[in-house]
Amino acid sequence: MEKTENRNMEVKTGSVKTDSIQKDNIKTRARDLLSRMTLEEKIGQLSQAGSTMASALPGFEADIGSWVTEMMEGRLSKEEFERRLSMCREDLREEEIRSGRLGSFVNLYDDEKVAKVQKTAIQESRLHIPLLIGVDVIRGYRTIFPTPLAQSCSFDMDVVRTCAQTGKREAWVSGVNWVFGPMLDIARDARWGRIVESPGEDPYLAGQIAAAQVKTFQEPEEDGCRVAATAKHFVAYGAVSGGQDYNTVDLSKKILYDIYLPPFKKAVDAGVSAVMSAFHDLDGVPCTMSRELLTDILRGEMGFDGFVVSDAEAVKQCVVHGTARDEKEAAALCLLAGGDMDMSSLDYIQYLPQLVEEGRVKEEDIDRACLRVLEKKFEYGLFDNVWQYDEEKIRKTVLCDAHRKAAREAGKRCAVLLKNDGILPISREIKNILVLGALSEDKEALMGPWSFTGNKEYQVTITEGLRNYVPEGVSVTWVRGFDVSEDETDFEEALEAARQADFIVAVAGETAFMSGEASSRADLHLAGSQERFLKRLAGCGKPTAVVLINGRPLAIGPLKENPGIGAILEAWHLGTEAGNAIAEILLGLYNPSGRLSVTFANEGGQEPMYYNHPNTGKPGGSFKFTSKYQDVPIRPLYPFGYGLSYTTFDYRDLVVDTPVFSAEEELKVHVTVENTGDRFGEETVQLYVHDVTASLARPVKELKGFRKIGLRPGETSVVEFSVPAEELGFYDNQGRRRLEPGTFEVFAGRNSEDALMVSCEMRKPSENN
Ligand code: NOJ
Repeated sequence: MEKTENRNMEVKTGSVKTDSIQKDNIKTRARDLLSRMTLEEKIGQLSQAGSTMASALPGFEADIGSWVTEMMEGRLSKEEFERRLSMCREDLREEEIRSGRLGSFVNLYDDEKVAKVQKTAIQESRLHIPLLIGVDVIRGYRTIFPTPLAQSCSFDMDVVRTCAQTGKREAWVSGVNWVFGPMLDIARDARWGRIVESPGEDPYLAGQIAAAQVKTFQEPEEDGCRVAATAKHFVAYGAVSGGQDYNTVDLSKKILYDIYLPPFKKAVDAGVSAVMSAFHDLDGVPCTMSRELLTDILRGEMGFDGFVVSDAEAVKQCVVHGTARDEKEAAALCLLAGGDMDMSSLDYIQYLPQLVEEGRVKEEDIDRACLRVLEKKFEYGLFDNVWQYDEEKIRKTVLCDAHRKAAREAGKRCAVLLKNDGILPISREIKNILVLGALSEDKEALMGPWSFTGNKEYQVTITEGLRNYVPEGVSVTWVRGFDVSEDETDFEEALEAARQADFIVAVAGETAFMSGEASSRADLHLAGSQERFLKRLAGCGKPTAVVLINGRPLAIGPLKENPGIGAILEAWHLGTEAGNAIAEILLGLYNPSGRLSVTFANEGGQEPMYYNHPNTGKPGGSFKFTSKYQDVPIRPLYPFGYGLSYTTFDYRDLVVDTPVFSAEEELKVHVTVENTGDRFGEETVQLYVHDVTASLARPVKELKGFRKIGLRPGETSVVEFSVPAEELGFYDNQGRRRLEPGTFEVFAGRNSEDALMVSCEMRKPSENN
C-alpha cells in the first residue's frame, strides 16, 4: 500500500481548531514530560488493565471466568451473575496508578469508579498524568444502537455517524476518553460469531463506515466532547480458519491488501488515534508481535502515526501460540514489533524494566512508544480539559429522549425485508395480532451482543413496540410458544392461539450470546426447535411474518421456501429501541430500506460465501464438472446488496459516459431509477465493476459506489457515479499496486446479482495522448 500524507495535521483540542504549530506544541509537551519520567513510569504508560475481583466473603470463591462462560452459554442468568459479583470486592488498582505503573484502564463502565481512578492518577501519582479510559463502544454506550453488521445494512452514513456521535457523547460525559471502535474486520464467513461486530463483507462499504466513524468519534464538539478511536482488529481477523474464533489465518498478500487492509487504510487516512492488533496469527506470526504488520505496513505503508494497543492478554498469548519462549520474551517481541501498549497481560510493566537493564530492549524503544501515548493524552485535552464527574449531566445525557429517538430511527433503517408475499405492511383491517416466540420479549436478545453498557430497563420489546403503534381497537397478544432450545412444551398452546389470530408475528433467531466474541457456530440453521415450530405454524394458514433477531446470516432456506410464511424481516439485534423500530416497519409507518451487507448462504457448509469471488476456470453451472456443491444451490439464498421495499423500483438506461478513459481519468456512468410502486421508498443504487482480463484473476463483481435515494411514487432519478480509474486497480502477491488497462464491465442495480451491465475500456498508457 502506498505511503500517504498524514491527513491528521489539523489536530483539534477542545473547541479550538489547531494547526501544525499546536501539533508541535503537543510534541514538545510530551517530550518535556517524558524527560521527567523514570523508566518504570514510562512503561506504566504502556500498560493497560481492568479492575480485578476477589471474594469478599469467607468460603466463597470468586470464579469470574467460569461465571462469564456459564452466563454466555445460558446456564447462568445475568441477574445471578450480578448477584455473585456483588459478593466480590473490586480492586481498582489504585496502588498501581499511584505509583505510575498503570497509564490506562480498560472497560471501566461505572462513572463513579472512573472518577475515582482518574482522581487517584491526577492527584496522587508523582507526575499527575491522567489515565486513558478505554471502553468498547461499537454500538452506542448506554443507549444501544443496532449492531455494526446491522448498521452496515443501512448503507447510510448518517446512521453510522449518528450511532458514533451518540455513543461518543454518552461515553464522554461518563469519563471515557478512548473507545475501542470502529471494528473493521471484513467478515466473509457467517460461522464466525464476530461477524455481528463487523461492517460486513465488502471493503468499499467498510471503508466508508471506517472514515465516518473515526471522524465522528474524534471530531471535537463545541464543549470539547471527543474521544480517541481505535481501528480493530489489525488485521484479517475475519479470515480465521473455518470461522472459528481466535483461529489461525493463512492468507495471500493480494487478499490481505485488496480485502482486509482497505478499511484500516481509510481509518488511518481519517486520522484514527489507535489501532488494536488482533488475537490470531497471520501466516504463522501472531499479529501482536508482527513487525511486518504493525510497523512496516501500518506505519511505513499506511502512514499511521498514533499508537498500537494489543488485544486483551494477546501479549502473553504469544507464548501459547508457541512463538515466544516465555512472557518476558513475548513482551520484548511485541514492543519491538511496534505494539505500544499491552492490554491486560501486564507483561510490559513486569518485564520491560529488566529487559532494558539487560540491553535486550533499548530505552529509546520505550520512549518512542511512550511518546505516542502521551501525545494522544495531550491531543485529547486530558491534561487541560480535565473531566469532571457531573452526576446531573450524566443523568440528563444517557438514554435521553433524543438519543433513544436516534436509536429508533437508526433501527428502522437497518432492518432488511427478505421476503414479502404482500402480507406486510400489516393491513389496517387486521384487528388482532399474535406475537409468538421467547425472543420477542427477551430484552437481552433485543439489545444483543456487546451491549454490557446498556440498561435493560429501557429496552423496548416487540410486543411493547407494536402496542405503541397499532391503531386503536387493535389487540396485540404475546404467547411464548418456542425459544432457541429443543423444548416443545408450549407448542400446542401457541398453535391454538395462532388459529384464533388474524395475523401472526413469529420472532425467531439467536439470543445475545449466540453471536459475538467466542460464539462461532458450525450449524447456521435456526437453533433448537425453532424450525420445527415455524413449520407447524406455517401450516395454520394464517398470515405469518417471521421477524429474525440474530447476529449472523442464518440458513433460513426452509422459511424462504415455505409458502405458509408470508414475510421475513431480518431485524438483527437493533438495540434499545428494537421493538419500536420493528413495529413501525411491520405496520408500514416506515418503508424498509436495509440491504444486506453480507451474503446469506444456503447452508453453513457453503461458507465462506461472498459475492466478490473470482470466477474460477469452471464456474458453477448445470454441467457436472463445475465448481459447486452437489447438495445446495450454487446461488446464495440472498445475495449481497439484497433487500425488499414496500414499493418497487425499476432500473433502466445504464449509460457509460466515458466508454474509453485513461488511468488518470474517471469512469463515469449514470442510470435511471424509477419508483414504480404506490408509496415513497428508499433505494440503495449499487455500482459494481468487473475487470474482465488482468494478470491476476479478479472478482466477478466489486462494489465501487452506492447511493441511497428516496423516491415518491412515479418519481424518477438519474443517478450518477464517478469512479477514479485508480480505484479500478488491485494488489499483487508482493503487495504492489497494479493498474491494468483493458475492458471493464460496469453493473448498476438493486443488488449484486440483479443489475444492468455495460462495458468500457481503460486505455493503455501509450494510447493516452
Ligand atoms: C477483546 C476484544 O477482542 C476486543 O474487541 C475488545 O476491544 C477488548 N477485548 C476489550 O474489551
